[in-house]
Amino acid sequence: MYTLTYESTATNTVKGAEMEELLEKARTNNSRDSITGCLIYYKGSFVQLLEGDKSKIEVLYAKIQKDERHKNVTLFSEDEISTRMFPNWGMAYYPINENHATKYEYEQFKRNLIMLSDLVKPTSATAKQFWKKIKNLISDPPL
Ligand SMILES: Cc1cc2nc3c(=O)[nH]c(=O)nc-3n(C[C@H](O)[C@H](O)[C@H](O)COP(=O)(O)O)c2cc1C
Repeated sequence: MYTLTYESTATNTVKGAEMEELLEKARTNNSRDSITGCLIYYKGSFVQLLEGDKSKIEVLYAKIQKDERHKNVTLFSEDEISTRMFPNWGMAYYPINENHATKYEYEQFKRNLIMLSDLVKPTSATAKQFWKKIKNLISDPPL
């Protein structure tokens, strides 16, 4: 098995309905292809970790790179793995809408992600890089 993690910049402020559509598609495809992972959206940036069969991930990542809903798609780590970090999630999604989020909601979002990172043990160097990136991203407050 194989895992990769990338970051990207959303091209438009992502609207709830568009994101729902994207996720529904992702979850259907990923479950068909036994791909799991986690997608974070914060302050106009995406960070996603994908894991599964290498050839399947390569096909998906090629599609993702061409997707016009985001740009500057940059791979920052990849690994061969034997264990998944998100075996039970087709595609976990953690968004926050910084335009509407209150300081409390933002703190909650941060706490949840930190809790998740403590709960979900990194199973590769790529997984560690993923959490490092997330922690770095959320250390930049929206307000
Ligand atoms: C940030 C981001 C993350 C995405 N993640 C996935 C994903 O995990 N799985 C997936 O199938 N498509 C994902 N997509 C959508 C793909 O780019 C592409 O639109 C979709 O896979 C096309 O599916 P189709 O070949 O069935 O039409 C993502 C798109 C973006 C912008």
